Amino acid sequence: MNRIEKLMKALPENADAAIITSDVNRRYFTGLGSSAGTLLVFRDAAYFIIDFRYIEVAKATVTGAEVILQDKLYEQLGELLKKHGAHTVAIETGYLTVGELDLYRTKLPDCEFSTAATLNDAILEMRSLKDESEIAAIRKAQSITDAAFLEILDFIKPGKTEKEIAAYLEYCMRRLGADGLAFETIAAGGPNSAMPHAVPGDRPLQQGDFFTMDYGAAWGGYCSDMTRTVAIGEPTDEMRKVYETVLAAQLTGIEKAVAGVSCRAVDAAARDLIYGAGYEGCFGHSLGHSVGIEIHELPGFSPSADPGVTAREGMVITVEPGIYLEGRFGVRIEDMVWFSPDGTKDLTNSSKELIIL
Ligand code: GLY
Ligand code: MN
Repeated sequence: MNRIEKLMKALPENADAAIITSDVNRRYFTGLGSSAGTLLVFRDAAYFIIDFRYIEVAKATVTGAEVILQDKLYEQLGELLKKHGAHTVAIETGYLTVGELDLYRTKLPDCEFSTAATLNDAILEMRSLKDESEIAAIRKAQSITDAAFLEILDFIKPGKTEKEIAAYLEYCMRRLGADGLAFETIAAGGPNSAMPHAVPGDRPLQQGDFFTMDYGAAWGGYCSDMTRTVAIGEPTDEMRKVYETVLAAQLTGIEKAVAGVSCRAVDAAARDLIYGAGYEGCFGHSLGHSVGIEIHELPGFSPSADPGVTAREGMVITVEPGIYLEGRFGVRIEDMVWFSPDGTKDLTNSSKELIIL
C-alpha cells in the first residue's frame, strides 16, 4: 500500500476528505519536496493541486494522486469536494495556522472543517514508523554528518570562534553531499557548552575548554542529528568524570532501547545514572526524540512520556544525555538508534571516546 492509500484508510470516520498542505506531510505523502501544493484525499480518490513552478516535477514524480495545475485554488477545491459529495474535511491540526483555517471556512462555506486531532495523530504515527527508503535516507544523512566530524577535528584550534567552526562544519556537510542542514548548528565552547542550545557566537576557543557540536545534515528530505563534545587541551579530572558519566548514561540508554520498551523507562535508565553520580539538576532536557522528515518527531525518550508509549520497530530515536554545569562547562553525546527488524542499531558511527585536540 502506498502512503496516499494509507492516508485514505486513515481518514477519520466522520470525515469525507482530508486536506494536506504542510511542507513535511506533503513531502511524506507525495515524495515531492516543495514549498506549495495541496493534497486533497477522499476514500477513493486523491488529487494534488500544484502551481506552475512545480508542475513538471510533480507530473514526473507523484504517483497515487491525480496531478492538477493550480489555477483558482479554492474554486478547484470546491469543485472536487462537490464532485465527491464531501462535506466534512479533516485538516492537519498540528500544522495548519488559524488564519489558513479561517480562509478555508470563508472560501468553502459549504464544508465543515473538523478540528479534531484524529487525522494529525494518525499521520504522526505513520511517520514514526520508518520504511526502508526512509532509513536509507537517514543513514545517508548521518554518513555525511560522520564524515564532516572527521574533517572538523582537523579544523578546530584554539583561537577559532564558534561561528567559524559552525560555518566550516556546514560547508563540509554541503561539500559532502548534504541538501542542507537538518537544523541550526550548535557549536559551543567553554562556559557556553553548559547551555544545551547555545547559539554559535564570537568567543574564540581556549585551552582547557570543552567544545560541543550538535549538528546534522539533511538528505533526500530526511534529517540526521549528532552531538559530540571534544576537549581543547588536557581536561581536568572533573571534566573527565563528567564526560565518562555522560558516556555511561548514553550507553545505558542505548542498551535499554529495545523494541517494546516504554519510552519513559529508557529516559529513566540514563537519567538515574546521571543523578546517581551526583548530577541531579544538571540534566534538564529529555533523553531523546524521534527523527525523520522533521528533526523533532514523536515519540521521545522523556520523563513526561505517557507510560504506555513504547518504542516500536521502524522508529528512529536519539539518545542524547548531557550534564551542564552552569557558567563552567557541559557535555552532551548524541547518537540516533533505529529499532530495526533485527534489533536496535546505532546509526551513528563517530567515535565517542574523549577526543583531546
Ligand atoms: N539536535 C538538536 C536537538 O535535538 O534539539
Ligand atoms: Mn537531538
